[in-house]
Amino acid sequence: VARTIADLKEHLFALSEGGRRSIGFVPTMGYLHEGHASLMREAKANNDIAVLSVFVNPTQFGPNEDLDRYPRDEARDLKLSEESGIDVAFLPTVQEMYPKPSKTSVIVSGLTDRLCGASRPGHFDGVGLVVSKLFHLVKPDRAYFGMKDAQQVAVIQQIVNDLNFDTIIVPCPTVREPDGLALSSRNVYLSAEHRAQAVVLSQSLALAKDWIQEESMTAGLLLSSVKERIESAPDAVIDYVELLRYPTLEPLDEQELMHKLESPALLAMAVKFGTTRLIDNSLYHPN
Ligand code: PAJ
Repeated sequence: VARTIADLKEHLFALSEGGRRSIGFVPTMGYLHEGHASLMREAKANNDIAVLSVFVNPTQFGPNEDLDRYPRDEARDLKLSEESGIDVAFLPTVQEMYPKPSKTSVIVSGLTDRLCGASRPGHFDGVGLVVSKLFHLVKPDRAYFGMKDAQQVAVIQQIVNDLNFDTIIVPCPTVREPDGLALSSRNVYLSAEHRAQAVVLSQSLALAKDWIQEESMTAGLLLSSVKERIESAPDAVIDYVELLRYPTLEPLDEQELMHKLESPALLAMAVKFGTTRLIDNSLYHPN
């Protein structure tokens, strides 16, 4: 366990044999679940050294978001990370990561105009900044990210390309509860009633998969059908439901026929139940 940058560097120096051993990295905000564990196992399976970071990054939270109540359980995180093969867990304080307010920004244009970038202004600037800092500290050969946050994967891949990070970004599939709900640290906020209704997200994605096969199914009709399905849950409040090309995140034309897709399409949604905002998505490939 490393709590300071100096400790982290010392551990990595001791383990990495002058760069001869590969490093797999899993950045997280903690309150780890099986989704994070799948990334950690992947990092360990494909690299000599597996590094985890747990840092609730204040710069990616908006003023009215859940920074203060973001769930934390360090003891459980450390246990799960050990069981998942992590060699070094980096758990810095805010003071350690941001001793002074940062005057440098990492802003990805275009890709952050829609989806969570639109509903959470500044969010991806904070993600870009902290991931850039963490990549400089850990110098990973590979870094593992969940497709649950598909826009985050696209944004980070862009940063890696634009800034020449020597890191391969490995997107990993979304891990779900048996009923389909995507695992999220934020699921603990849900009341029993909202937890039951929240299956509507994954259900609508599964239905969309079938609807896409219909000859006459256009992007516009698919979107309205998915929205209607989500709104069948009494307390669901849609933040966004969008259908975009992936990874460029340009919207599909309303009239575009879904079974004639020429590039992968991302159906992505953010839905609120009470004060809890859930996201989910699915990537559809051309036939
Ligand atoms: P966090 O929400 O903790 O997620 C850490 C990583 O776990 C992300 O790559 C996310 O996509 C992945 N993940 C979350 N739920 C998952 C699931 N159900 N299945 C598979 N993977 C899942 O994303 C962040 O933290 C932060 O923005 C971070 C990148 C750490 C920067 O602060």
